[in-house]
Amino acid sequence: MRKILLAGSTNAWLRERATKTAFVRRSVSRFMPGETIDDALRAAAALKADGITTILTKLGENITTADEAEEVTQHYLEVLDKVGMSGLDAQVSIKPTQLGLDQDRAMCDRNMDRLIERAELRNNIVWIDMEGSPYVEPTLELFRRTRAKTPRVGVALQAYLYRTEKDVESLIPLGAKIRIVKGAYLEPPTVAFPKKADVDENYYRLCTRLLREDAVRAGCLLHIATHDIGLADRLSDYIANNKVPASAYEFAMLYGIQRGQQLRLAKSGKRLRVLISYGEYWFPWYMRRLAERPANMWFVIRTMFG
Ligand code: FDA
Repeated sequence: MRKILLAGSTNAWLRERATKTAFVRRSVSRFMPGETIDDALRAAAALKADGITTILTKLGENITTADEAEEVTQHYLEVLDKVGMSGLDAQVSIKPTQLGLDQDRAMCDRNMDRLIERAELRNNIVWIDMEGSPYVEPTLELFRRTRAKTPRVGVALQAYLYRTEKDVESLIPLGAKIRIVKGAYLEPPTVAFPKKADVDENYYRLCTRLLREDAVRAGCLLHIATHDIGLADRLSDYIANNKVPASAYEFAMLYGIQRGQQLRLAKSGKRLRVLISYGEYWFPWYMRRLAERPANMWFVIRTMFG
């Protein structure tokens, strides 16, 4: 099921039809407060009332022209301004292929520089999402280049990739902000652990590495980005047993997923950031969310009749 859904996520024919279908649009609203930045900001304000901070991301990936990259960059510049004026603690997260990585790396670098300059001005942070495995190397180059200029940048790393252990090791001396995720793309066994149990174990190993004293002293910040409550609780135990300072980590989850657990974490005094996605180009992203939990398919089917 996971493979079928992930293969479907990149199918243009399916995207064209599904995005026009009312029941699919209804079921998407569970994971997405709306298609505009104002919808996302309203959702961020509601979460703030529960003591939850946020990260905003506009859906869309693999744009095809320099004009589109410019449009996305302009959009995020405006988001940084709007957040600055709103009084919300909301960071932003971009995909390198939204800034033009596929078209022209120098253009992507320039767009990132513009966002970082605005983030400096607005006292904010820009996160870089990690996409499919061919993008890991250029994404880390983009991160390192940006990190050399400012600490106001973070990057996502995927626990399903064999290489991530080494990448973590190389980023620790930079005092990097790192979001550890399990990984959402369809990857071959030559680059990624095929067994979920191995991914979960690697996730724990990578996080505990980033919580060790030398990483904390270097200034690393870990985002424990998972809805796997068993794993999150195991990491909370590690944190308590090793007296890891609260400034060294935050939990992170996606909007609309494990809502009860989100409130539980926030009420227990843990720092939690919820990533809110918005935008019109939601189809591949939505298919990846369905692939993460086949039970979600039942939710879609129920919505069909609801
Ligand atoms: P896992 O898949 O094991 O799920 C644990 C439990 O959580 C499930 O049993 C289920 O109960 C619940 N759950 C998980 N997903 C659900 C869903 N869609 N609907 C309902 N319940 C669900 N990936 C990537 O490749 N690059 C990136 O940059 C990011 N960025 C990112 C940011 C943040 C803040 C989060 C939380 C996640 C990402 N991801 C990501 C996605 C990540 O790689 C992964 O696909 C999902 O988080 C699902 O994995 P879990 O760690 O939640 O565990």
